[in-house]
Amino acid sequence: MDRAYRFSVAPMLDCTDRHFRVLMRQISGRSLLYTEMVVAQAIHHARREPDGQARLERLIGFDPLEKPLALQLGGDDPVLLAEAAALAATWGYDEVNLNVGCPSEKVQRGRFGACLMAEPQRVASCVAAMAAACGLPVTVKHRIGIDQRDSYEELLQFVDTVAAGGASRFSVHARKAWLDGLDPKQNRTIPPLRHDLVHRLKRDRPGLTIELNGGLETTAACLEHLQQVDGVMVGRAVYEHPLRWAEVDRLIHGQLDQAPVSASTVLRGLIPHAERWVAGGGRLWAIARHLVHLVEAVPGARHWRGQLTREAGERTADARVLIAAAQQLEARGL
Ligand SMILES: Cc1cc2nc3c(=O)[nH]c(=O)nc-3n(C[C@H](O)[C@H](O)[C@H](O)COP(=O)(O)O)c2cc1C
Repeated sequence: MDRAYRFSVAPMLDCTDRHFRVLMRQISGRSLLYTEMVVAQAIHHARREPDGQARLERLIGFDPLEKPLALQLGGDDPVLLAEAAALAATWGYDEVNLNVGCPSEKVQRGRFGACLMAEPQRVASCVAAMAAACGLPVTVKHRIGIDQRDSYEELLQFVDTVAAGGASRFSVHARKAWLDGLDPKQNRTIPPLRHDLVHRLKRDRPGLTIELNGGLETTAACLEHLQQVDGVMVGRAVYEHPLRWAEVDRLIHGQLDQAPVSASTVLRGLIPHAERWVAGGGRLWAIARHLVHLVEAVPGARHWRGQLTREAGERTADARVLIAAAQQLEARGL
């Protein structure tokens, strides 16, 4: 866990599920991974159902090989968040993260996500309750501002207040969010990136651990930002181009003996996971859907993807589909 946050893979709903995290673990053994956002209230309710354990397993279960791993929570109620954070510690997570960056309407209706940037004191109370309940690092992922509350002074005030509540790291998506008018996807592209504000935040608060997120496309760009901040977090460019990050352990985590993995090695690494998943009644497609970006920019990639998609989509598909796909890559030295 030591400074795993120097490079992390951003929480992404529908993307960073346990299967994608196992995939990413084949590529970087050292980076910090996040779950998708899990709403604290959903955890609270799941625990009280007769089949609570199975529900929790679906919501927050993971394979120890995914560690270091942070559970991202959504919510605004210190009591529910504390309950979820305590459970995260019991289940073996390394960190708990509070989502103060999501602008979706559904999340706003629940009065959490990015709209909490307008309530720094409430966020501080949530963080304090979570930290007291779990003993794990509690971190916050947030924006640089929302709507008209987007001055640097307001950002500083937010961070100072939440730091006083005991937050141990700030992952700053370097864009403001427009809560009224833009949907989540637009809120990830339209408001301009202000990396400079995150750099400034670190300069002004050198004692805080500050991580920069938003628009990072290459390891080289990450290394440049790491001269100014403590960590970098990458979302879409990791999901869409996983192998682009094959040198992260060597170049960012300083693991100099680490050779970059190939696509076939990644696939081979996934096979034990796929066997366990299918044996437990899961569909292979849940894993294979994340593999479509593994091979890109080489002749025949489309054909390989098409065949994998067809075969892994069959209801009875099992890990043999992945073995055959890995063999095809190996035959081509990929
Ligand atoms: C499909 C998708 C789902 C996302 N889900 C979450 C989420 O559950 N929690 C969260 O804090 N951010 C979520 N985000 C935002 C990302 O974590 C990240 O802040 C954003 O994509 C900017 O980083 P990037 O430019 O490297 O992608 C999501 C982004 C995408 C593209």
